[in-house]
Amino acid sequence: MGMAINQLPRIREECEVFHLSEKQCREIMSRLHNDLVKGLGKDSHANSIVKCWITYIQDLPNGKERGKFLALDLGGTNFRVLIINLGENHFDMQSKIYAIPNHIMTGTGIALFDHIAECLANFMKEHFVYEERLALGFTFSFPLKQLGLTKGILQRWTKGFSCSGVVGEDVVQGLKDAIARRGDLALSVMGILNDASGTLMSCAHKNPHCRIGIIIGTGSNACYVEKTENCELFDGEPGKPELLINTEWGAFGDDGTLDFVRTEFDRDVDVNSINPGKQIQEKMISGMYMGELVRLALVKYTRMGLLFGGRGSDLLYERGNFYTKYVSEIESDKPGDYTSCMEVLEELGLSHATEADMAGVRHVCECVSRRAAHLVSAGIATLLNKMAEPRVTVGIDGSVYRFHPHFHTLMCEKIAQLVRPGIQFDLMLSEDGSGRGAALVAAVACREREVQA
Ligand code: GLC
Repeated sequence: MGMAINQLPRIREECEVFHLSEKQCREIMSRLHNDLVKGLGKDSHANSIVKCWITYIQDLPNGKERGKFLALDLGGTNFRVLIINLGENHFDMQSKIYAIPNHIMTGTGIALFDHIAECLANFMKEHFVYEERLALGFTFSFPLKQLGLTKGILQRWTKGFSCSGVVGEDVVQGLKDAIARRGDLALSVMGILNDASGTLMSCAHKNPHCRIGIIIGTGSNACYVEKTENCELFDGEPGKPELLINTEWGAFGDDGTLDFVRTEFDRDVDVNSINPGKQIQEKMISGMYMGELVRLALVKYTRMGLLFGGRGSDLLYERGNFYTKYVSEIESDKPGDYTSCMEVLEELGLSHATEADMAGVRHVCECVSRRAAHLVSAGIATLLNKMAEPRVTVGIDGSVYRFHPHFHTLMCEKIAQLVRPGIQFDLMLSEDGSGRGAALVAAVACREREVQA
């Protein structure tokens, strides 16, 4: 038997397809900029890909919001109910995670809303507020066409949901109807919002420079503060200079704009998803797909004989078995150490991996996650350049950003390279934007109502 050949150089060569040059990043930025402008424009909106939905959130928190609020958070990894107490010097929050079983995620809308209302009722009982009339904020992290702060029409499901009878309907009404069917809860739904908007709200509560909210979790999205005059579709109350825009940039690329950088692995993930042709940018970035991209590359390199001596495993060859959290774990190993990598490979039935294999696997993970970080960075730099404000804080939430060991650093470097000179930025981890954001939207809405009354 001869010495095993080191295949790492060949794996590195193969992984070049994941590399985005600075030139490509700049091309992506200019395309995204055009799509954002189209989304905002009155005549171009209908045919736009990046929808730039108007949120009707025009008042950012000023830190003076007070009171007790309920919040719902649907659309991330978990469904949660929260109760939040905004006080002078404290922000006290309790929450509970409820499962959304698969048959509900893909069942009827009625069953989904009934389930949500039931969880809400149980939660209120447990927290002794079952009989109170509380204000509620609803974080609903899917594309909504909003017709007001409490009216939002679902445009499409994303991220594995596909409940029937909801697309084209008002989601707030769906929730209210379910509450009415029970007949036991007295609540005022004060606002519906997206997790990206929630992230922005919750960061702005602490930091007035926060003007962009980003999610890099199960899905990918961005929300930012736009001048009302640029929002040609806005028909709300005039007089307020600014508006939050929910870009829904996860759909960027749905018309082929990103094909010049997509790989065979991206096409494979898309074709085998429940929404083929949709959410193309999201599928290159977010946690729902990142692990699968790595797995597909590993399978290819194994079949080429570049990994595991050409011997894969049933688990490796099966869709969905390489979780995105593995990417974070593997990249958390110190250089030269492969403890987590070995554990992951053992779980996948690949205990015959050599150290060279592990170096190869880590390299694949690094290339896929780096590409994701660079794509998000190109998006953030596009927004920063468009806003042209001297100093902006970017609030970020989501499992990929939170748990990946290098994502933050990769993003800081890349944005600095791409942003126009003279624009200062910083990236701030949002502490539970979805939950707090919902409570803050409810609180600000109550605050404004009092001002008007
Ligand atoms: C998907 C949803 C979007 C959400 C994002 C992050 O892209 O369409 O509304 O913000 O996921 O959860």
